[in-house]
Amino acid sequence: MAFVERVFSGVQPTGNLHLGNYLGAIVNFVKMQETHNCIYCVVDMHAITMGMDVWGGPAELARNTREVTAAFIASGIDPKKHIVFNQSQVSGHAELAWIFNCVARMGWLNRMTQFKEKAGKDRENASVGIFDYPVLMAADILLYRATHVPVGEDQKQHLELSRDIAQKFNNDFGDSIRAQGANDGLFFPLPEPLITGPATRVMSLRDGTKKMSKSDASDNSRINLTDDADTIAQKIRKAKTDPEPLPSEEKGLEGRPEADNLVGIFAALSGRAKADVLREFGGGQFSSFKNALAELCVAKLAPIAGEMKRLVADPGHIDATLNDGADRARAIADETMKLSKDIVGFIRRR
Ligand code: TYM
Repeated sequence: MAFVERVFSGVQPTGNLHLGNYLGAIVNFVKMQETHNCIYCVVDMHAITMGMDVWGGPAELARNTREVTAAFIASGIDPKKHIVFNQSQVSGHAELAWIFNCVARMGWLNRMTQFKEKAGKDRENASVGIFDYPVLMAADILLYRATHVPVGEDQKQHLELSRDIAQKFNNDFGDSIRAQGANDGLFFPLPEPLITGPATRVMSLRDGTKKMSKSDASDNSRINLTDDADTIAQKIRKAKTDPEPLPSEEKGLEGRPEADNLVGIFAALSGRAKADVLREFGGGQFSSFKNALAELCVAKLAPIAGEMKRLVADPGHIDATLNDGADRARAIADETMKLSKDIVGFIRRR
């Protein structure tokens, strides 16, 4: 079956959207709109897999869901031409995840490095949801039979699992799929991860070996999309570096994670290659490079922060956008669920 190309991706509403989310994912979401039909989801059902101390409780979840929606729109996603919605409004995500729970194997999930990181030492006390997280992710994508998934580097393993689930479903139910008229026995596409650009893994500003993360205790480790100009400049000035001047060639960044990270951020924000950035700043001191980086960061992020502020001030409008997106998402999802239920053998009302 020739699958229609469609893009799907999601972001968790767990607070503190940062430069990593923006450069690793949202910038690519915006780009993909030019060539594809896109569905962008605020994955509120994923957000509650961690303890309530992490996602903040009901009021905070709703506030963060609106904030991520505002960030999408402020960054340039067009919710009229494409689909923007929150996951919990479309019941197919949970329904398909259940079917996939019975396709995926414990061994596959046991290998997920993000589960090991998130559960930490106290696995007995981790929620079942956090273990099952990647299965719900596969359901998110395949509910729309999406073919392309723009994400940051940290989601690569989850995307591989989504492909494994799609393939096993197609194999397990091959005869039933063919009986429904698909001669090649393929019902789900194997979704392709799109991990592109010079900042697929933005690192902490305090430690170049650690990923920039929402959950880092130090706010100075990340640039939040809601930070004001002074805060951004200050965080960049304080960012950890090493004593050497910047190299003139990319090879010179090897073994210098902090320098590599800052050059990568500059490249991503300016749409230039790292080599090109080093041609301009190589040989110079970090202080002048940091000034230029701070200026660039403020120039790119301040308008987004301003627009987010304006948008979240009108929650009614954001909710209407999410409702409209959910209606359009549901129309696609319902069709997939109808066919999936027929394939599995669930009797449904006709
Ligand atoms: P989340 O909310 O943790 O992150 C959203 C996106 O931001 C990317 N990202 C980064 N990219 C570069 N550098 C970083 N430091 C960095 N930190 C985060 C993530 O890779 C992601 O693309 N599981 C997903 C949400 C999800 C999803 C999906 C994604 C749920 N269902 C279906 C794609 C398709 C997540 O944890 O995102």
